[in-house]
Amino acid sequence: MENVKTLGEFIIEQQTDFHGSTGEFSSLLSAIRLASKVVNQQVNKAGLMSHILGSAGGTNIQGEDQQKLDVFANNQFIKALTGRKVICGIASEENDEYIPINNDGRYIIAMDPLDGSSNIEVNVSIGTIFSIYHRITPVGQQVRAEDFLQKGSQQVAAGYVIYGSSTMLVYTTGNGVNGFTYDPGIGVYFLSHPDMKFPAQGKVYSMNEGNMNKCSAGVKQYIEYCKHVDSATKRPYTGRYIGSLVADFHRNLIKGGIYMYPATTDSENGKLRLLYECNPLAFIAEQAGGKASDGYRRIMDIEPVNLHQRVPFFTGNTHMVDKLEELIKQEK
Ligand code: AHG
Ligand code: MN
Ligand code: MN
Repeated sequence: MENVKTLGEFIIEQQTDFHGSTGEFSSLLSAIRLASKVVNQQVNKAGLMSHILGSAGGTNIQGEDQQKLDVFANNQFIKALTGRKVICGIASEENDEYIPINNDGRYIIAMDPLDGSSNIEVNVSIGTIFSIYHRITPVGQQVRAEDFLQKGSQQVAAGYVIYGSSTMLVYTTGNGVNGFTYDPGIGVYFLSHPDMKFPAQGKVYSMNEGNMNKCSAGVKQYIEYCKHVDSATKRPYTGRYIGSLVADFHRNLIKGGIYMYPATTDSENGKLRLLYECNPLAFIAEQAGGKASDGYRRIMDIEPVNLHQRVPFFTGNTHMVDKLEELIKQEK
């Protein structure tokens, strides 16, 4: 076990040069680490436990069925984060309103506690996504909406957990991206992917192509471009779409590629949520040398107006997002 670093060691090492080393941020990351282990344990048992599988019978604010694991994951993350006292408020996909926590806390968090939940019953990778900010209202008061409606460029950290063939936690504090793989035998995350970067040449495109005829001309042209045969640019690209944003993003980060969830004729802002899906992955993408755009603007420059707002989302290798933006901008 020489030369291996645990997530715990890594957090302590980083703490000394981060945010005045009060230990508060480390405590926050520890809460996420802990909750992810509890969720991981349930995810692994999901196929065995009929009381975990299936719908919890409710719907969230977007009218989507809440799966039992959604609710379980949400509760676990809220419980772990509330216990640490450093968080003053939580916004979650599964809660209509933000949740005020400890007025003396300095950090707020926005999260998608279980991403890709339609994939639970078919044993495909799912995830958790989180985004962390400093509050902007004074410490000591209850948090307000403005604490959550900050631009993505204000994030102090962001990350995701992927519950896959291995479970990994990948995060950034604005100083590169690091990935940790979980050893379930001993309950420890190890640094397995230091300083993650998109490979120079992306070769995967990921989109629900069933929506193609509901997309704008620029997006359609880009899909045609991906399929076009051209050896100089290594096309056609490979099509890969899991339907779990975290898993699609993670594969593209490692292999090189672009993820697309565009506007469609029946959803003018696409499907994905700015605060707890797009902004955190945009921060990671940029830190890994990639890019994230809504087709016109940098995702992290968008001024949020509500907690659950959606936005068209294109992220991955910079050269791929640039080409797509060029075609989208030309269509007008
Ligand atoms: P969630 O499970 O948190 O609601 O997110 C589902 C999202 C995302 O994970 C995925 O990329 C996308 O929905 C898939 O949408 P389509 O089924 O429309 O392709
Ligand atoms: Mn999601
Ligand atoms: Mn979700």
